[in-house]
Amino acid sequence: MTSQQIDTALKAAVLAPSPHNTQPWLFEATPEHVDIFLDESRILPVADPHGREARISCGAALLNLRMSLRAQGLAVHMKLLPDDTRPLWLARVRASGCLAVKPDERTLAAAIPCRHTNRRPFRDEPVPGAVRKLLRQAALHEGARLVMIDQPARYSAVAKLLRLAEFTQREDVEFQDELARWVAIDPERLDGVPSLAGGPPPLTEPLVLLREYGENSGKAPREYEQEPLLAVLLTRQDSPHDHVRAGQAMQRVLLAATACDVSASFLSAGVELPSTRASLRALLDGDGHPQVVLRLGYGYPIPRTLRRPVGEVSTCVEHAQ
Ligand SMILES: Cc1cc2nc3c(=O)[nH]c(=O)nc-3n(C[C@H](O)[C@H](O)[C@H](O)COP(=O)(O)O)c2cc1C
Repeated sequence: MTSQQIDTALKAAVLAPSPHNTQPWLFEATPEHVDIFLDESRILPVADPHGREARISCGAALLNLRMSLRAQGLAVHMKLLPDDTRPLWLARVRASGCLAVKPDERTLAAAIPCRHTNRRPFRDEPVPGAVRKLLRQAALHEGARLVMIDQPARYSAVAKLLRLAEFTQREDVEFQDELARWVAIDPERLDGVPSLAGGPPPLTEPLVLLREYGENSGKAPREYEQEPLLAVLLTRQDSPHDHVRAGQAMQRVLLAATACDVSASFLSAGVELPSTRASLRALLDGDGHPQVVLRLGYGYPIPRTLRRPVGEVSTCVEHAQ
């Protein structure tokens, strides 16, 4: 890999989503490979005490990195958690030789800078079956499963559970203190979530409630969609390996959605609280471990959130040792 190819790939990697925009990743690059590490100092102790969501975020960065290298015509080989004794070392991506770029890889790579978490109201317009199928296939491609919650009884049970989890976190002082530390009040702050990224207050309370980042009282209330499409991403097991896999699958789903003009936001309270995560698993027949809950639909353009520059999160070594 040339240094320009690596730079392009790392710029794509850091555009991945992460809870509260914590960006919990570090990279080490050589001309032969790029390693991705979990930055432990950026794990959220209250929302994510075991680092599950941080590993998911690194998995998303890894998918972006892979897609960018592929879109540049490089053949890519990946190994997850290459060394059992170094749990922070999440993956090594080797690039060697050239390989023709497939159309879907080009499409996914092009979607990377266009994907943003959309917490604003969606239009009341269903996501067609063909798009749902495409999103399910995107998850399967990366070894995870995306379950659309489309049976009415299951939908209301899942929505109820997500509401309960959201209310629990809203009343949890430690959770709210942690969240407040990640609200980016300074417009030049390169991590955290600016309150501009949050949605307006709902005119009437919607079925599922979104996480609130900072003061939204300045925004005019708006009606949210009646029934957003809810989708749960599941993995077979719940190991660190599965979390990195889940992150890649989540990001492939999000990029595929972006390419179809489908917006997404997260409803993570339900999988962050152990009790609601267990209930959600049971509601989905105990078949797999819920990792990510998404709200999908058709939204309107939204501003992007900032990232720390590549130079701050990566080191480049001229030659592999
Ligand atoms: C694993 C994970 C969980 C997340 N959970 C939530 C959530 O519950 N609510 C929310 O509004 N955003 C959630 N986010 C979205 C992040 O806040 C968002 O990715 C970050 O602020 C960067 O913004 P962007 O996605 O627009 O680039 C989550 C992201 C990840 C990767």
